Amino acid sequence: MMQQIDTPDALIAARKTMTGKVGLVPTMGALHAGHLALVEAARRENDHVIVTIFVNPAQFGVGEDLTTYPRPLMEDLAHLRALDVDVVFTPTASGIYPPRYQTHLDVEILSMGLEGAARPGHFRGVATVVAKLFNLAQPTTAYFGQKDAQQILVIRQMIRDLHMPVEIAICPTVREADGLAMSSRNRNLAPNERQAANVLFRSLFAAAEAYDSGERQPVAFRETALHVLRSEPMAQVDYVAICNPRTLFGVHDAIHDPALMLLAVKIGAVRLLDNALLPWSSNERAGLLANLGASL
Ligand code: PAJ
Repeated sequence: MMQQIDTPDALIAARKTMTGKVGLVPTMGALHAGHLALVEAARRENDHVIVTIFVNPAQFGVGEDLTTYPRPLMEDLAHLRALDVDVVFTPTASGIYPPRYQTHLDVEILSMGLEGAARPGHFRGVATVVAKLFNLAQPTTAYFGQKDAQQILVIRQMIRDLHMPVEIAICPTVREADGLAMSSRNRNLAPNERQAANVLFRSLFAAAEAYDSGERQPVAFRETALHVLRSEPMAQVDYVAICNPRTLFGVHDAIHDPALMLLAVKIGAVRLLDNALLPWSSNERAGLLANLGASL
C-alpha cells in the first residue's frame, strides 16, 4: 500500500520505520516516462522508495511558469501506485516554507552560468529544497535525470561541500518518439508548438553527427546547432553552449575530451532544455533512431 504523506513531521516518522536502502526521487509532478524511469530504478535498487511531488516556489522566478505549471495529482498518484512506491510526499508550500522561513543554500560557481544566469535564484531554490528533502527522507540514494545536467552538478557539489551522506544516481534522458526530451512543460505546448519542439533534439543530433565526421571545434558545433534551430520559426534560442561536463565552463578550443552541449530554447511561451555529450554514444543514438524512422 502506498502511503501519501503531506507534512514534514509525518515523513520523518515514516522514515524511522524504514530499514535497509531507501531510494528518493524528488519531482515537481506531472509525471512522465522520464520521471517513471527514475522511480523504476529506485524500486529495483532499494528496499523502500520515497517519491516527492512539490512544485517548489523557491526555484521559480518572477514572471516564470509557477502558476501554469501542470499539477495532475490524481494521475501522478496512480502512476506511483502502479510502480509500488512506498511513500509519496506531497507537502504544501507553507509546510516547506512556513512563515519566517529564512535559510537558503547557494552553490556558488556552478549556479552562475546557463540556467543560473537565465533564471537568477533558480538553483538556490533547487539546492534548498533538495537539501530539505534529503534531511526529511534520509535516502541512501537519490535519483536525478541527465536532462537537467546543471542541476545534477549543483546537487553533487552541495552533497560534497556539506558532507551529506547521500549517493546520487543519474538516469539517461527519456525521449518522445520524435526525440523531444520528455518534460512536464511539454504539456503546455500547443499542437503546432509540440511539432516544432523536436528542433532541440535535431540540433543536438546534427552536432553529434558533425563530431562523427571529425569536427572538434566548439564554434562549429554551435553553428551547426544554431543552423538547425534557426530553421524553425517558432524557436527562440536562449543559449547553445559547449561546456566542460564537470565544471560547466565554456570550452573554446578544439575538444579532446567529451564536451557537454546544452540548449535552452523557447517554443512559444514554453522554455525547454536539452543536452548531449559530444561524442554522443552511437549505441544510444541508434536506439533513438530506430524510433524516429524517417522523421529526421
Ligand atoms: P522535475 O522537473 O519534475 O524533474 C524531476 C526529476 O526528473 C529530475 O531529476 C529531472 O532531471 C528528471 N527528468 C525530467 N525529465 C526527464 C527525462 N526526460 N528523462 C529523464 N529524467 C528526467 O527537476 C526538478 O523537478 C526539480 O528541480 C526538483 C529536483 C524536484 C527540485 O524541486
